[in-house]
Order: sequence, then C-alpha cells, then structure tokens
Amino acid sequence: MTHVTIVASPEANAAKPPVAASDFIWSDEAACAAMAADLAQAMKPGLLAGDSAYIELHGTLGAGKTTFTRHLLRALGVQGRIKSPSYAVVEPHDVPGMAIHHFDFYRFNDPQEWEDAGFRDLFAAPGLKLAEWPEKAAGLLPRADLQIHIQPPPQTDQGEQRTVRVEAFSQAGQQALMALNKVRPLEATGAQAHG
Ligand SMILES: Nc1ncnc2c1ncn2[C@@H]1O[C@H](COP(=O)(O)OP(=O)(O)OP(=O)(O)O)[C@@H](O)[C@H]1O
Ligand SMILES: [Mg+2]
Repeated sequence: MTHVTIVASPEANAAKPPVAASDFIWSDEAACAAMAADLAQAMKPGLLAGDSAYIELHGTLGAGKTTFTRHLLRALGVQGRIKSPSYAVVEPHDVPGMAIHHFDFYRFNDPQEWEDAGFRDLFAAPGLKLAEWPEKAAGLLPRADLQIHIQPPPQTDQGEQRTVRVEAFSQAGQQALMALNKVRPLEATGAQAHG
C-alpha cells in the first residue's frame, strides 16, 4: 500500500528530521521514469533561474539510483549517453542554463579529495547536484533538499518493484515533494503512485 505522511518540522531539532516525507511504489522501471519526469518538471524552472538543489539517492547495490538519475537527467534535457560516474566520482552534465553534477561516492575514501577535486566548490555553486552513496562522504556533504530511498524486494529475482521513500529537508525539497504528490494523488483514487 502507498500512503503519504506529512510531518511538521519543529523549529530546531538536532536530529534534523525531514520536514516532509512520502512513500511511493515503482512497480517497474517505467514508474521510476515517470516519477523522475515529474520531479524534473517540478525542479526545472527553479534550476534554470539559478537555484541550487541537492538530491541524495540511497539504496543498496542495484536498487536503481543510477537508473532514476538517468531518467531525471534525460527529462531535464541531457542528451547523448549518460555515463555512470562510478570511476570518476563525479560526472558533469550540461543543459543550457543549468549545471548538473552527478556524484557516486561508492569508491570515495580520501577526504582530501573533497578539497583537491573541488567538490566543495561544486556543492557551493548553483545547479543540480545528485549523489549516490552519500553515506561514503558523510560529514562533508551539505544537507540534502531531498533524499530518495529506494528499496528493492528482498530477493533480487523478485522482480522490478521498488518501495521508495522521498524525504524533504528544506522548503525547496518540500515543494518538489508536494509537486510529486500533486501530479500523482496517492490516496484519492486508491491507485498506486507511479505504479
Ligand atoms: N522499478 C525499477 N526502478 C529502477 N530500476 C529498475 C526497476 N526495476 C528494475 N530495474 C533495474 O534495476 C537496475 C538498477 O541498477 P542501477 O545501476 O540503477 O542501480 P544503483 O542503485 O545505481 O546501483 P549501484 O549502487 O551499483 O550504483 C537496472 O538494471 C534497472 O533497469
Ligand atoms: Mg549507481
């Protein structure tokens, strides 16, 4: 079942819980692509106007982090082959008027690289930042606007369904999340979101 939980944010909270969160089901990769397209549509005007946005992708190996990112970048207008950043840690993409950096911190193990490779500057600049395996650079990364937690079925041979929790940690993130909920009302029809 899919449901929506909107959590009010306390003014100050050391644990920094999300300000809003929603659960989604991707029954297959097409549902993943549909949500990516919805998110792109919600975020694109702000990004083109010079906003900065940071999205974290959480989930085990093969959960669908790169797949979701590819669909999101495609929907934002990235053309040509979309390489996975695994070996380079970061892969830059270009859409006119918008800088996009796709990080994969899976092999990141030298905090010095954060400074040396200019990641601090990239995160401080406007544009879209996406990160897979942000856990591996914990303590260096800023607070995410959105965290997307993708959970595959317990057995990888159990098909394409993914349980997805989207958590917003900023007002911009909350707005994007509300746009996702708006385009696919979760409870109104009893239909599964993005499934
Ligand atoms: N509902 C779904 N959503 C997303 N991907 C799906 C779905 N069902 C099947 N897949 C497939 O699962 C695979 C996900 O691989 P992907 O590289 O995106 O995972 P990842 O989370 O980036 O893994 P890694 O931690 O190794 O980077 C792809 O082959 C994709 O086609
Ligand atoms: Mg990946």
